[in-house]
Amino acid sequence: MKLITYALTGAFMLASTTAFAESHETPGENMQLMMLETALAAGDAEAGKKVFKKCKACHTLGEGAKSRTGPPLNNIIGAGLGEFEGFKYSKGMMAMSEEGIVWTIENLTAFLTKPRNFIAKTKMSYSGLKKEADRANLIAYLATFTTVEDE
Ligand code: HEC
Repeated sequence: MKLITYALTGAFMLASTTAFAESHETPGENMQLMMLETALAAGDAEAGKKVFKKCKACHTLGEGAKSRTGPPLNNIIGAGLGEFEGFKYSKGMMAMSEEGIVWTIENLTAFLTKPRNFIAKTKMSYSGLKKEADRANLIAYLATFTTVEDE
């Protein structure tokens, strides 16, 4: 968590004007906003759209996204692991979910590099994205499908 905090400092400066414009925002929302800023700064969402082709067989995004082999990936950045209602996750994923682990950029990067190293016995049968740029671009693309709710 420390690492991500340091990495976020730059984005925090960028995001702070909007993040604190509304005094009723919770720290959770600010944190999610910072994650989004970081993701969008670190990768190229347009390039990430092409990388997402590797995920499309199992995952959907956008309006009307539904579960396929995997759950839809809207609002994934900053969300808790395994939170899409109605999807039957692996026991490994549920155990981490119960620990309160969140899809930070750091965790997403680790999972996408080699899913089985991050969650032993995950149901996601995908070998992983080897290239750092592919991961960063993909995460930036996912960020464009994440909205921070301002209630
Ligand atoms: C062969 C099907 C398949 C492919 C390809 C695949 N996934 Fe998955 N994905 C799954 C399944 C199944 C799960 C649920 C894993 C579990 O329960 O352990 C999952 C889970 C996830 C989660 C966690 C979702 C949540 O609700 O917590 C993320 C994030 C994710 N995948 C991203 C990706 C990305 C990005 C790609 C492309 C690089 C990808 N996946 C490729 C099947 C797939």
